[in-house]
Amino acid sequence: MRLLSAIGILAIIAAIALPIFFFGGFYNVAATDQHFGIVSWALDRVRMASITHHAAEKPPVSLDDPAVVQAGAKEFSEHGCVSCHGAPGATWAKFSEALYPSPPDLSEIAKERTPEQIFWVVKHGLKFTGMPGFSAIGVKDDEIWKIAAFVKKLPSVSEADYKAWTAR
Ligand code: HEC
Repeated sequence: MRLLSAIGILAIIAAIALPIFFFGGFYNVAATDQHFGIVSWALDRVRMASITHHAAEKPPVSLDDPAVVQAGAKEFSEHGCVSCHGAPGATWAKFSEALYPSPPDLSEIAKERTPEQIFWVVKHGLKFTGMPGFSAIGVKDDEIWKIAAFVKKLPSVSEADYKAWTAR
């Protein structure tokens, strides 16, 4: 009985304090203010679980086809990915270092994600981050699959390859 009333009192205090904290302006939304470790950990887990759950679409073409990968490099260079993520031989724009969360190195991400997951993220973007959902600006699925094919191959793409594939 004692325990139950203690839990009840704590719940009432939380129900009053949390809205005051968040709606009263005490929570700091500044991008220069880092999350607590446990919040970052939870956000990471939530993001990964959500991507894994939603990324169900299958590629309509072979993503190992060199023509698809090379076309993907061109799409990648034309849609602004380089400003935030960089590319082989091309550095990201300075501002991207001030994004929070910061854009990851895609040649590392490529090793940890399936092409389906990369496709889904590029198509839909990631809420509360700077990662745009490219379908919202009319980028077609087949273009996004090419981008996913290229990103997946990034660990083995040389600067010379990237330069040749993106030359006009
Ligand atoms: C305005 C900056 C910006 C642009 C432009 C941008 N991204 Fe991102 N991207 C981000 C940020 C920030 C994250 C990290 C989000 C996070 O950590 O939750 C991210 C994450 C990702 C991820 C990893 C998601 C995961 O599985 O964890 C992939 C893949 C990705 N971007 C691909 C792309 C591609 C391809 C393009 C171009 C078509 C692109 N991004 C354009 C900012 C950007």
